[in-house]
Amino acid sequence: MEGFAGKVAVVTGAGSGIGQALAIELARAGAKVAISDVNTEGLAQTVERLEAIGASVKSDRLDVTEREAFLAYADEVNEHFGKVNQIYNNAGIAYTGDIEISQFKDIERVMDVDFWGVVNGTKAFLPHLIASGDGHVINISSIFGLFSVPGQSAYNSAKFAVRGFTEALRQEMVLAGHPVKVTTVHPGGIKTAIARNATAAEGVDVKEMAEFFDKRLASTSPQRAARIILEAVRKNKPRVLVGPDAKALDLIVRATGSGYQRLFAAVLGRMMPSTH
Ligand SMILES: NC(=O)c1ccc[n+]([C@@H]2O[C@H](COP(=O)([O-])OP(=O)(O)OC[C@H]3O[C@@H](n4cnc5c(N)ncnc54)[C@H](O)[C@@H]3O)[C@@H](O)[C@H]2O)c1
Repeated sequence: MEGFAGKVAVVTGAGSGIGQALAIELARAGAKVAISDVNTEGLAQTVERLEAIGASVKSDRLDVTEREAFLAYADEVNEHFGKVNQIYNNAGIAYTGDIEISQFKDIERVMDVDFWGVVNGTKAFLPHLIASGDGHVINISSIFGLFSVPGQSAYNSAKFAVRGFTEALRQEMVLAGHPVKVTTVHPGGIKTAIARNATAAEGVDVKEMAEFFDKRLASTSPQRAARIILEAVRKNKPRVLVGPDAKALDLIVRATGSGYQRLFAAVLGRMMPSTH
């Protein structure tokens, strides 16, 4: 893919799924990549694949919720490569459970990783992206940042927040005249380990939920998702919907307005495992 050669791209959560595929596709397109994850085993596999492509790689263990570490990491990456052009704030976790049975700590944990992780990454790298003269922030939300579903209030909150944060950032960069593009990504169901890595409220069958996700919801491969995301980045799209399911559901929600809530509650109530 054109437009990435020689660029320095940072990918969080690159030890699995979409993050791993993004790192590989970026390397194939000639970018230098800084990858991180809390899962060091997964990260080592990604490094192996990147080295096989002959890419220039910096790999680090980084927990996106650790703000001070993230700030120091941004300076390290900038020093290592001499510049930073792109950050893909991708690391994320899933959690299922109705509000009634969820603990405060469960909801806070999802917000910490899925929202604050994105804020930490954006703020840590923004000065370097501006200084590069050719920057791009790519924040991974979800279709669950466009509409809500039962059992996903914590994830919905984090992903709606990522969308709000990122859409404001894009406008701010334009008004400030900064050379930083901004893209919000809304994937549909992607075939990754996200549901198998997920947690759930007490009483919710997390295994059954993962099987439901893997069999019924995940339809797009991570590689295809990465290619769609990079194409949108290349074209400086403000928003990218990943997968046919994401496009169809976005249309339904826009066509029905708040009416989607009644529709989804009825449909999901019949097909989905219990979330309470
Ligand atoms: N798979 C989907 O259907 C789907 C749909 C919409 C959005 N997303 C989003 O895409 C992103 C990537 O998810 P995925 O599907 O590839 O899942 P995945 O579980 O395969 O990969 C996520 C990676 O993030 C890492 N991670 C988790 N917590 C972290 C932390 N605190 N610090 C650093 N790394 C951490 C995990 O170790 C893992 O390697 C997430 O933000 C997710 O919410 C996924």
